[in-house]
Amino acid sequence: MTEIRVQNLQKKFGEFVAVRDSSFTIPDGSFFCLLGPSGCGKTTTLRMIAGLELPTSGSIYLGGEDVAFKRASQRDIAFVFQLFALYPHMNVRRNIGFPLLCQGVPAREIRQRVEETAKLLRIDHLLDKPVSGLAGGDRQRVALGRAIVRRPLAFMMDEPLGTLDTEFRDLMCNELRQLHNRIKATTVYVTHDQLEAMSMADYIAIMNRGSIEQMGTPEAIYNRPASMFVAEFVGSPSMNLIHLPASLAAGSKWVELSGERIGIPETREGLIHENVVLGARPEHVRFDDNSKLRAKVLATEYLGTTQIVTVAVAEGQVKARVPAATKLRTGEHVGVRFASDRLSIFDKATGLAIRSVLHEGIAHG
Ligand SMILES: Nc1ncnc2c1ncn2[C@@H]1O[C@H](COP(=O)(O)OP(=O)(O)OP(=O)(O)O)[C@@H](O)[C@H]1O
Ligand SMILES: [Mg+2]
Repeated sequence: MTEIRVQNLQKKFGEFVAVRDSSFTIPDGSFFCLLGPSGCGKTTTLRMIAGLELPTSGSIYLGGEDVAFKRASQRDIAFVFQLFALYPHMNVRRNIGFPLLCQGVPAREIRQRVEETAKLLRIDHLLDKPVSGLAGGDRQRVALGRAIVRRPLAFMMDEPLGTLDTEFRDLMCNELRQLHNRIKATTVYVTHDQLEAMSMADYIAIMNRGSIEQMGTPEAIYNRPASMFVAEFVGSPSMNLIHLPASLAAGSKWVELSGERIGIPETREGLIHENVVLGARPEHVRFDDNSKLRAKVLATEYLGTTQIVTVAVAEGQVKARVPAATKLRTGEHVGVRFASDRLSIFDKATGLAIRSVLHEGIAHG
């Protein structure tokens, strides 16, 4: 049982707060992604969980025990830096077994565990081959084998696929996720790549400037972003954020754009938001000549089955993802509609979603 529970974790470097009062729970056996832009505190958080960095304050419960101020060697966590650094002069068997050798595990046990690991990765037929002669995919599997052979309580991975080219990354993402499905060890995976996180994670925590902005399943984060930051960070092209000219009255069920009423998720009674921002994913925008909300087509980007169409409305630019077969010409005028039940609304002053379901699907604090 390796649930990891982080409570009010804080890290300061001098006066600078790198990680601010973070709390989250990583369920046993789940694949958890820490996602955020460069410098937001992902590596620092991961290093504190692994014991490579001491927190300024806070707790880290590993299977029920607070290990926040214990040494890394007392935590049985594997920290995977890069997945592709192998010892070229050794064969597959020795590469995989190396961490056990360093730990002083007896030779017979090493042999057995290396063979088990190789079977799991389906490279047992390559055990006595030199790694220098292996194809790329097999090399990655060997590197993975070396990371998992210890069978630690949990894995920490810091952008392990960082320097791989796109095609290889996709392959390795897939490989890693399949491996996780087989061994089910709690994994914390750091990335700044939202596609990587969305495709691999059971749960994602989005960090921004040292704070956790939202936690939840990829679906919850994509469909109900808790803040404008999350809305823009996740999704490609990102969510349209349309700044509305009017304030939003308590209990409103719609907003008005160029005389067209647009249904929105009902706001909580009693709250008045001075400046609101409407959020619409490109796939929730469509063209309808009967809409009073008029737009001019600025550009189209063909993507095979769909196309991204950029249009200008009075309030700014909007991107729509529509079927590639829809015929549209640059300069043409169209009517715009939104899928009302899929919209988000944000309070411009706080940047937070109005009446959004915060931290859904995973405990917070
Ligand atoms: N040892 C240190 N001393 C001082 N500042 C540090 C130290 N380590 C990290 N920082 C600062 O803390 C902040 C968070 O750093 P961290 O490495 O955790 O970010 P990150 O999210 O992993 O970024 P990246 O995506 O670039 O790897 C950054 O502003 C960084 O400059
Ligand atoms: Mg980092």
